[in-house]
Formats: sequence, C-alpha cells, structure tokens
Amino acid sequence: MSSLQHVNPRVKGIGVSSHGDLQSLAAQITEEITQGALKPFEQVIDVSSGDLHRTGMKPISFVRQMICLYPQLLEDKGLPLDVRRRAQKLLEVCEGESLGSYTVSSGMPHVRQSIAEFITRRDAGVPSYAKDIFISFGSQGALMVIVKLISSVEGEPQTGVLTPTPGPHTLPPLLDEAGVALVPYQLMEDRGWAVDLNELHRALDAARGRCNPRAIYISNPGNPTGHVQDRKSIQEVIQFAAAERLLLLVDEVYQDSVYGEGREFASYKKVLFEMGKEFSETVELVSFHSLSSACMRECGLRAGYMELVNIDPGVKHYVATFMDTYICAPVTGQLALDLMINPPAPGDPSNDTYAQEILLTRTTLSQNARRAQKFLNDLPGMSCQPAMGGIFLYPCLHLPSEIVQQAEISQVEADVLYCQRLLEEEGVFVGAGSQNGETGGKHHLRLCVLVPPDTLQEVLDRLGSFHLHLLDSLSHADRGVKDTDVRSNTKTS
Ligand SMILES: Cc1ncc(COP(=O)(O)O)c(C=O)c1O
Repeated sequence: MSSLQHVNPRVKGIGVSSHGDLQSLAAQITEEITQGALKPFEQVIDVSSGDLHRTGMKPISFVRQMICLYPQLLEDKGLPLDVRRRAQKLLEVCEGESLGSYTVSSGMPHVRQSIAEFITRRDAGVPSYAKDIFISFGSQGALMVIVKLISSVEGEPQTGVLTPTPGPHTLPPLLDEAGVALVPYQLMEDRGWAVDLNELHRALDAARGRCNPRAIYISNPGNPTGHVQDRKSIQEVIQFAAAERLLLLVDEVYQDSVYGEGREFASYKKVLFEMGKEFSETVELVSFHSLSSACMRECGLRAGYMELVNIDPGVKHYVATFMDTYICAPVTGQLALDLMINPPAPGDPSNDTYAQEILLTRTTLSQNARRAQKFLNDLPGMSCQPAMGGIFLYPCLHLPSEIVQQAEISQVEADVLYCQRLLEEEGVFVGAGSQNGETGGKHHLRLCVLVPPDTLQEVLDRLGSFHLHLLDSLSHADRGVKDTDVRSNTKTS
C-alpha cells in the first residue's frame, strides 16, 4: 500500500488546499509533539516560506544591537562605539527622541532620504528622490496600497494584473483581497524559468474582454523560481509595458541574493534609465524592497518600501492619503531599514563582524542551493532547474498516476497531498506548487534553502527518505508510469 493511500481525515474533511492549511497542520503536529506524542522525528522543520530566523538563521548583530535603542544603553561601553553613536543619531530623528512615537505615514523623512541615496548609489548615479519613496509595514503592505489604488470602481470592468506562474504564494490572496483579477503568464521552466515575451502577449490578449489589464507584476530575483533576469529580458518587459501602457510592479526584495555564475542584479529602474528618454520619462514603475530580504531577514520587524517612478504627482498624493489610514510602519522596522541600506562602513568598529555575517549568509545560500539542487536532481521522479538568486528552489515532481488518483479522491491537489504526507511522516514542511499558481497537471515543491547547512542536510535526508519510500511503495504497474515520467524530466544541472 502506498503511503498516500491513507488520507488523513483532517484533510478529507476540510481539504488542505492553501498554504495556511498546511501551516495549521504543521502547528498541530508541533503541538502534538509538545504534548508527548511519539513521532519518527523530534520537530517539524519549516522550509516552506522565507521566514529565515524560524529555521535558525541568526540575526545580523549590528541590527540587533541597534534596535533596542534604550537610551541608557548608549552609555554601555560593551556596545561598539559606532553602534552607540548611530543609535543616538537615530533616536534624535524620532519624534520626542523615542521609538514609541508615530512617524509620518509615508515614513520617517531621514530614512526616506537614506533610501533615496542608497538607490542612487546602487543604480550608479540614476537619481532617486525621497519624495518618491514610501515606507510601509512590509513590501506586501506597499504593494497592497498600489493594487487597491488601481482596482476598479463599481460599474467599470474589473482591473487585471499580469502575474507570473509560478509566483509568490502570497500574491493571489493579496490580489483577491484587493478585488483585482489575476491574469496568469507562464514562466518557462525549460529555460530556467525565464520570462517569455510571446507568453506575455498571449496572456494579455486572453485577458482582454474578461478584465481590464492595467499592470504587470514581476518578481526578480524570482520567488519561487530562483531565476534572475538579464538586461535583455528586463528591456523586453519594459518595452512590452510601454507598448501596452501597463504599470510595472517590480518586486525586487531579493536583490541582495544573486549567486548564479555570471549573473548580477540589475534593477528595473537602472535598465529603464539606460533605455533613453522615450522610456525613462514615460514608463510607470513601482519597485519594492524589504527588510525581509535574504541578508537582513528581519521579516517580523515589518518594514519595506516602494519607489514610484514616473507616477503622476496627483496619484502620489492619493498614495500618501491612502497610507495615512495605516498611520505608519513600525518605527523599529523603519530604523532597521536605515541600517540595511547604510551598514557599518569599512573602518567602523562593527564592520568586521557585519561583513563576516553577510559573507556567511551569501556563502551558505549559494552552497546550499547547489547542494540541494544536485540532491533533488539525483532523486528519481524529481527535476530541479538551477537557481541563480533568491532563497528558494522549485523542483518539479513527476508524480505517478496512483498518487494523482489518490489526490483526486481526496479532492486536493496532488502536490498538496505529497506535502501533507511529507509533513506527517517526516516532519518537513515544504510549499506546494499549486499554491504558487501551478495548474494543469504540473506539480512542484517550494523549498527555502537559506537555512543553516545542518538543517538543510536534515531536510534533504528526510525528504529523500520519504520520496524513495513513496516510489518504492507503488505497485509494479505504477512503476512503469513513474519510469516514463522520470525519463521525460528535463534536467539541466
Ligand atoms: C516575492 C516576495 N516579496 C515580498 C516578500 C516580503 O514581504 P514583506 O516585505 O511584506 O515581508 C517576500 C518574502 O519574504 C517575497 O518572497
């Protein structure tokens, strides 16, 4: 009997379909272990999302030393001098010199100015202005503001946003909440998940008549694909957006984590300004960055920002007014953003530790990604495109028909059923591709690889054991299906 033949009644009854359902199941199993239930594993390991501290990645010391900002601590000689000086400076820019005060709803002027200077440096002199920067409670909060602003009013055709498949699992619910139609465009798996221009045109044509497509969302470096666009690909998307008069929504939160050989991060804004005035003065662009980035990974402090480029001043006024309703982003998060973009400089007492910690993050990420990709590609019935950036791998599961039938009976997606069984049998929580928008018989897993190396080893051991056991438990007839599926894999490692 295959290990998938037994379907958990919890799932049968309620249907595990969303990321939240799997999350609840993980929490339930953890609770059962706490209550003394015997499991073949001691704890659940969650690599389904980019919550990096959860899996044991350490915070950056400089950030943590700074954000306590308890005034009396500034006298403590145990803290490096640059930390104490910087903390004092940051306290001075808080209202009432306290972290407990509200800030302007678009963000602290000092931090917005720092962000504009950071972007100007990053983009080799392409100017950025504080008035175009809006700080929010995470980049997702900022995205929500924009999506709500472009959503349709009653009586108008529904606004549509072109959205990658696969894309971030948080995106479909966000668009849904804003009342905006998701217009899917398929990324090209056999080309390492590249964006394809013909596919963008196809998606747009298919959507017209059904809704009013007004924007295109891009995740670069890609979540969950790990793809990093080159300049040519970015130019194509910009030309497409310009020709079709679409607002460009570019999620660049993993800009600090590109590790593919010969690849580097190029921001959409920089490429836009290299394309001449025809584009740089007309194409409407909103780019997003976050404290939840790979190197900072301070997701829980809730701060991110967006930069508005070529957006009408009247619209910017609406953005500011809209943000007033949220009061302001947490002050600790806003100050941590300032630290993210202005880390200790060479020669500062904190610089050595900071540089070592960032290097460790980058090395861990690239080594883990390569190790995990090789491991996954060596498993029968699994293929994984090489990632170039971001924090996820997105392997394809070539599932035998028996499992697919089991899922149909249980009324869940086959990849969700796989994830559920993996969670219950081995205590490993990975995301299911159907939650990233994958449909049409393709099955994938979403796996965060920025975790401590020994945690990754544990995840791979448990995943491999589950996967092989699953395939072994299939009937001989199904093995024929599996072998066919495996032969059709496109392994490009
Ligand atoms: C594509 C993408 N955008 C944004 C975020 C972060 O959102 P926020 O800044 O709201 O924490 C993540 C994950 O952390 C992500 O993967």
